[in-house]
Amino acid sequence: MSFADGSLAGRRVTVRVPGTTANLGPGFDTLGLALAIYDELTVAVRDEPGAFVEVDGVGAGEVPTDETNLVVRAIAHTFAAYGQELPGLHLTAKNVIPHGRGLGSSGAAIVSGVMAAKGLLEGIVEIDPLGLLARATELEGHPDNVAPALFGGLTIAWVTPEGPQFKKLIVHRGVSPLVLVPEETMSTALARSLQPESVPHADAIFNVSRSTLLIAALIQSPELLLAATEDKLHQSYRASAMPETDRLIQALRAEGFPAVVSGAGPSILVLCSDPGQRLAAADLVAARTATPWRSLVLAVDFKGATVITHPDEVE
Ligand code: HSE
Repeated sequence: MSFADGSLAGRRVTVRVPGTTANLGPGFDTLGLALAIYDELTVAVRDEPGAFVEVDGVGAGEVPTDETNLVVRAIAHTFAAYGQELPGLHLTAKNVIPHGRGLGSSGAAIVSGVMAAKGLLEGIVEIDPLGLLARATELEGHPDNVAPALFGGLTIAWVTPEGPQFKKLIVHRGVSPLVLVPEETMSTALARSLQPESVPHADAIFNVSRSTLLIAALIQSPELLLAATEDKLHQSYRASAMPETDRLIQALRAEGFPAVVSGAGPSILVLCSDPGQRLAAADLVAARTATPWRSLVLAVDFKGATVITHPDEVE
């Protein structure tokens, strides 16, 4: 289904974008996994200039509803990148991905906007997968959340002078993610400010070994996940900003669960090697903390972001 002509008037698109978990332990700013939890967005071109934003669910009453809204900024950024004039827009967002918890909500908002722009510009500008990744990464700053949000599955993303690149992989069917979400939030900017300028060479080697092993564990040998999720590049530097997360990860790992910080935190990702492990991991956390942690048993999303155009509405 596609839009009838080259005019933007009356165009309407619906976008669905998965949440993501990035880093996966050793793969800092590189590895990401799409999870079956989705934000949905409808964008309609309207006659009046400017943006009108309605938000339902997570972030309602909190996120901006004008041109400073991150989704609107991503649409505007994409239109500008392809030399297109931005029309008046009416956005309706239904958000489910928790904000500020390390589940890729800002990446999902950016990908929502980029995909909406792709849909709205259908037949006028064709934006290929690397173009989508480039536009999203320009706003997010690093590609490890936006790559799986766009393409689904497990993604390896890397940056070159020609722009960000990605490889999508299908994870082993036994890999069973559990995400434990605290009430507190964490700012990615704060987490990144805690990173040192340089790291010991031995630590870099440690992470090269674990992250390459992690690819094997995720696509072929889930029994290696505990060894493969060790990290020396980011989690220890950030632990002081999320001590409860750090404490619970140590407790989970001591019992053999492959637990890591999800993205920049403070949620915990447990990459269980079979579905039954997830309940035991959630029980362990519930028994070791006095504060409420929400358990999200999430499948891996294999599809990534989708956009549907509504040609019937074009007059
Ligand atoms: N790789 C990023 C970080 C993910 O850990 O800072 C969060 O955006």
